[in-house]
Amino acid sequence: MRNQPIHPPAEPGARSEAEVRGTAVTPTEFRSVMSAYATGVCIVCSLDEEGAPSGLTVNSFTSVSLIPPIVSLCIGLGSRALLDFRRAGVFAVSVLAADQVPVAQACAARALDWDTVAQTTWETGAPILSQAVAALDCRIVADHEAGDHAIILGQVAKVGWLRRDVAALTYHLGRYGSAPPEVDLPDA
Ligand SMILES: Cc1cc2nc3c(=O)[nH]c(=O)nc-3n(C[C@H](O)[C@H](O)[C@H](O)COP(=O)(O)O)c2cc1C
Repeated sequence: MRNQPIHPPAEPGARSEAEVRGTAVTPTEFRSVMSAYATGVCIVCSLDEEGAPSGLTVNSFTSVSLIPPIVSLCIGLGSRALLDFRRAGVFAVSVLAADQVPVAQACAARALDWDTVAQTTWETGAPILSQAVAALDCRIVADHEAGDHAIILGQVAKVGWLRRDVAALTYHLGRYGSAPPEVDLPDA
């Protein structure tokens, strides 16, 4: 299932840093400009070898295809959880609510005590946070490496709302925020 890297990292040599990277854009500039793009925040979770939750906080989640329903995540190649995702072949996406900053932060710092988090499972067995806004239960259908991340594509087996009327957690300019479930749009 694993495909060839799309943009394999260049081998360092006698070349300049920009030549090695293949661009004059520095990681700092790239991160800074990408932070202008406001996103939601999710915890994506699979299972480790012992069947315990293995997850990470991500904002790289997006919808890819409607028919069939496919989503994507980008996971750093150094991530411990990536090994579990690849082994288990399944994951669930929990779309976080604005009141879930502590769980988002703990998960990002690998400090989340999963025993304290209310969870459920649907079809694949991947853990879903019961206090999330909504969730998608997925089976991995493709895995591409691009630079220093893996693009994981998951076909969606089941979707559902858990807390439909609460504000969603957002991430913008490196800070958490919240998006209300409804906004009043200005008159056209
Ligand atoms: C708001 C936010 C968004 C993040 N998005 C991603 C992401 O899309 N992909 C990723 O690999 N790591 C992302 N991280 C970092 C991971 O949550 C985590 O820190 C990293 O994967 C190291 O943990 P691991 O080795 O257990 O996977 C994000 C962190 C935060 C706080």
